[in-house]
Amino acid sequence: KAEKRATLLEINKKAAQYFYYQLRRENGKTAHDYLTGRGLSEEMIKKFGLGYSDKYSDDLYKYLKAQNYTDDLLRESGLFNVDERQGMYDKFWNRVIFPIMDVNNRVIGFGGRVMGDGKPKYLNSPETQIFDKSRNLYGLNIARTTRKNYLILCEGYMDVISMHQAGFTNAVASLGTALTSGHASLVKRYTQEVLLLYDSDEAGVKAALRAIPILREAGVNSRVVNLRPHKDPDEFIKTEGAEAFEKRLEAAMDSFMFRVSIAAGEFPMEEPQGQNRFFDRCAQYLLELSDELERNLYIEAIVKEYRRYGISVENLRKRVNSLAMKGTPAEK
Ligand code: UTP
Ligand code: MN
Ligand code: MN
Ligand code: MN
Ligand code: MN
Repeated sequence: KAEKRATLLEINKKAAQYFYYQLRRENGKTAHDYLTGRGLSEEMIKKFGLGYSDKYSDDLYKYLKAQNYTDDLLRESGLFNVDERQGMYDKFWNRVIFPIMDVNNRVIGFGGRVMGDGKPKYLNSPETQIFDKSRNLYGLNIARTTRKNYLILCEGYMDVISMHQAGFTNAVASLGTALTSGHASLVKRYTQEVLLLYDSDEAGVKAALRAIPILREAGVNSRVVNLRPHKDPDEFIKTEGAEAFEKRLEAAMDSFMFRVSIAAGEFPMEEPQGQNRFFDRCAQYLLELSDELERNLYIEAIVKEYRRYGISVENLRKRVNSLAMKGTPAEK
């Protein structure tokens, strides 16, 4: 079994080198132009080992086959599709390739992006014996070597590379999957502090809201960065530059207050009834805090932020207490 893992790693390494080489050939010019067109420097293309899978649908298969790997192993590598009539053929076709490395710089999988608007936008290796998506973070192999005492957690490959290019070399991404407790404990090995930079859309906000308690349970504190009006870190940096980006990082919102601010957007705050329900929701969140001091700090923070709705420390504390009296805290 260990031997098989080693062979699968070897196959991935050879595939990564193959893609890397394709990007530099005449045939790979469109792909290379695509990457430079998106603002990536040659240095970043190298550093992240980006590549290209060309328009032939069996060249990688032939290349590896010529090195005497069995079909069984090649199938398990996740690099090929198996079709009853066509047999095995390359999974990645005419895509820009992002090799995914583990913290020891071993290639464990790949992401491939269409150059343009095709679907799916990204194709990823399936989980294999060496690729566990919920225990690996894209870019962590590089981010772990930086001096910063926090990690930046974002959604995508391009976000990570853009941030690294702009000097934020502590950026990682959770490979298009929701953050898991596996990711959180991986993060905890390197830091206790995370800045969440998910996309500004509804999916990104939801993902951040889900990630916060998962990180907290692993003992990792998180804050949330607002990138609006831009969609993601890559676009933000491209339009506003690294300095403006740094300012947004500094203005990161405490994760508890982020939850509160999202809740404020869910109620009709111009009506007394909406305000009432919002502050009850706040009380519910406050009740989740077991530390008395922490709870008091947040009561004050909420009152300060939403004073215009006539909330007072006494009133909010009363809501928390009466909710506590009801016994079990309400479900979220
Ligand atoms: P996004 O849709 O936000 O794409 O997906 P992006 O990273 O901004 O991509 P660009 O800038 O258009 O190139 C975020 C991440 O979710 C995963 C990928 O890891 C992607 O980077 N994803 C997205 C997929 O796995 N498959 C998809 O079809 C789309
Ligand atoms: Mn090919
Ligand atoms: Mn997104
Ligand atoms: Mn995005
Ligand atoms: Mn993007």
